[in-house]
Amino acid sequence: MPAPALTSRAVRFEEFGEPADVLSVSRIPMPAPGPGEVTIRLTSRPINPSDLSVVRGRYGDLPPLPATPGLEGVGEVEALGEGVGNVTIGDRVVSLGITPGTWAERMTAPAATLVPIPDGVSDDAAAQLVVNPLTAWVLVVEELDVQPGEWLLQSAAGSTLGRVVLQLAKARGFRTINIVRRPEGAQELLDLGADEVIVGGDDLPARVGEITGGVGVAKAIDAVGGPLAAAMAASLAVRGTLVTYGRLSQEPAPFDTGQQIFRGSTVRGFWLAHWFRESTPAHVQETIATMLGMMAEGVVDPPVEARYDLADIRAAVAHAERPGRAGKVLLVG
Ligand SMILES: NC(=O)c1ccc[n+]([C@@H]2O[C@H](COP(=O)([O-])OP(=O)(O)OC[C@H]3O[C@@H](n4cnc5c(N)ncnc54)[C@H](OP(=O)(O)O)[C@@H]3O)[C@@H](O)[C@H]2O)c1
Repeated sequence: MPAPALTSRAVRFEEFGEPADVLSVSRIPMPAPGPGEVTIRLTSRPINPSDLSVVRGRYGDLPPLPATPGLEGVGEVEALGEGVGNVTIGDRVVSLGITPGTWAERMTAPAATLVPIPDGVSDDAAAQLVVNPLTAWVLVVEELDVQPGEWLLQSAAGSTLGRVVLQLAKARGFRTINIVRRPEGAQELLDLGADEVIVGGDDLPARVGEITGGVGVAKAIDAVGGPLAAAMAASLAVRGTLVTYGRLSQEPAPFDTGQQIFRGSTVRGFWLAHWFRESTPAHVQETIATMLGMMAEGVVDPPVEARYDLADIRAAVAHAERPGRAGKVLLVG
């Protein structure tokens, strides 16, 4: 008798739009893995802002529809396609494919994109390995090379990525000036090791000037965009650099290019998708191994606020978009 066809419970959307309007859960057929592919039984996946941007049709890469959202997650290898030799059934893995599809019980992935997860790394951390911890590392170490003792100015500092930056600051000895939008968020970040916290962007260059002895910061990272990004650019030291990597406000930034001319400062964008495309496979493996090592040691530990079953996708997304979270909302099951 032929084996029963595998299916997968999956979050789906047939058109781009507000997640509450377009997301639903259904059961879809799961084809056997092709040559060089595996089937992964996923167990945990985060709801990241980028996932919701994909659903809203506002991301750099958009999938053909209908689609399953979710750019990352952890699971176990459940079935092997022909010729797969780098993983075996039961291995706990993360796919570096960065294509939507993790908000499902199962997904097919090329075996070459899989990273085995060491026992010392929890599912909670592994599920979040790629999008935020890796980006925080690349921003701090590769994009800006923040040195011990140097200041780093960051916005949306209470975000998961911002909290990982605080963990990296502790491990690598640099100092942080952290911008948050809510006064209640300030003490929590100070307790996590933030050196300075500024609430809101009013008067930002003057506040940063007070902290840095009038010099400004040489290095800054922004996830908000809009007027805050412009205020951060105006807080740079001579020859300083602001890397923008998120646009949470959805607003355009009114830059004064005079600031950049007369200070010789730089504002540039960063997207992890380009880093994957431009890095050698050996460099990607080495960087991932470094991050997994820091996770195993507890140096990097992306926080979790709540877990929801896939079936509760609308409640989970509503929670993920609520201000004042202290960690990521994970989809389990
Ligand atoms: N370019 C890349 O390759 C890349 C890679 C990874 C992440 N990202 C981006 O990094 C950012 C952070 O991601 P995450 O997953 O760490 O975020 P997260 O955990 O979901 O947290 C979002 C944070 O942003 C704050 N926030 C939301 N809207 C805001 C606004 N309009 N103005 C100011 N602050 C706002 C929230 O503040 P409250 O605490 O007050 O609620 C919260 O602390 C996102 O924009 C994401 O797309 C980019």
